[in-house]
Amino acid sequence: MLKDTDTGSVLVVDDCPFTLTAISELLKEYGHNVYSCTNVKNAMDLIRAKHIDVVLSDIKLPQVSGISLLEKAGQSHPDIPVILMTGYADLAVAVQAINCGAFDFILKPFDTDYFIKIIKRALKYVQLRKTEKVYKEELESKVKTRTQEMMFALRQMENINTEVVQRFTKMAEYRDTDTGYHTSRIGLYSNKLAESLNMSEEFIDTLTFASAMHDIGKIAIPDNILLKPDQLTTEEFKIMKTHTAIGKKILEGSSLSTIQMAESIAWSHHEKWNGSGYPMGLKKDAIPIEGMIVMLADQYDALRSMRPYKQALSHEDVSRIITEGDGRTMPDHFSPDILKAFIEVAPVFDEIFNSKSDVVNTT
Ligand SMILES: [Fe+2]
Ligand SMILES: [Fe+2]
Repeated sequence: MLKDTDTGSVLVVDDCPFTLTAISELLKEYGHNVYSCTNVKNAMDLIRAKHIDVVLSDIKLPQVSGISLLEKAGQSHPDIPVILMTGYADLAVAVQAINCGAFDFILKPFDTDYFIKIIKRALKYVQLRKTEKVYKEELESKVKTRTQEMMFALRQMENINTEVVQRFTKMAEYRDTDTGYHTSRIGLYSNKLAESLNMSEEFIDTLTFASAMHDIGKIAIPDNILLKPDQLTTEEFKIMKTHTAIGKKILEGSSLSTIQMAESIAWSHHEKWNGSGYPMGLKKDAIPIEGMIVMLADQYDALRSMRPYKQALSHEDVSRIITEGDGRTMPDHFSPDILKAFIEVAPVFDEIFNSKSDVVNTT
């Protein structure tokens, strides 16, 4: 790179040997590194082979003109300024050359001081361009590094959020009769239903994660109710139902989309399409779709699982109960679209239940 102390390399192109020698000697006297030749072909060879900072060319060269050299050098080495030398008679051509991208032109015969001044100006221009290029590269490199650092920090933040929520969910599971496998299965069933419903990728990812917190409110339900091995009395069931409102209270007010969805699920995963659910008795589309998805997934898993007061049912029996009803669970509890999605992906539900079975995994 050209430094302040560098004197720069100048390529002189002129078909007149006398002029060529005179200019070369003058430039050398001023400390410049000089290359010289008499035609465009040799000039291009030197530009490609040597480190040239500035080209100084006669506008009239044999066969092809100095403007042709200007065009060729401009294509392959656009950063090299080209100065054209011309007589008064060719002034119009020189102006045309400037329009074609020449850095400047020098009228012959020239005054030495003026000549050297133009060469130095061209070299200064080269220096500024190079400094600017280095500065730009450094800036780009800094921006790249900072972006990588920010991306890393962001990923770490996301990981921390995920881990805190997972541990928080796990903590709540210790109070429940449902195991961690139940909550991870709910995530997988919900994922499949949302996929079958053609929901967006972002919705599916958020739902898969958020659904694990659907029963987080059970953390505040007294042990004698939560862990009761028998059917709950009406009064006890009334208290049990409050886990939806408690879950909402635990999760509300978050700016994170995952927690916002978890809040919606905690609040609405016991609502039923026909309005017979709780806590609000909402009907049809008034129930958030994420709540309706988790409700079906939760029902399927509860029916398949053994409880102290009931036997586990087979996939076929549970599918029949969900789609045809058994008096307690009825098809009109579910959104028709989600029920249709369940029928489509039902075999996957069975696979999920078997692969993440509490019985198999508790060894
Ligand atoms: Fe629940
Ligand atoms: Fe559940």
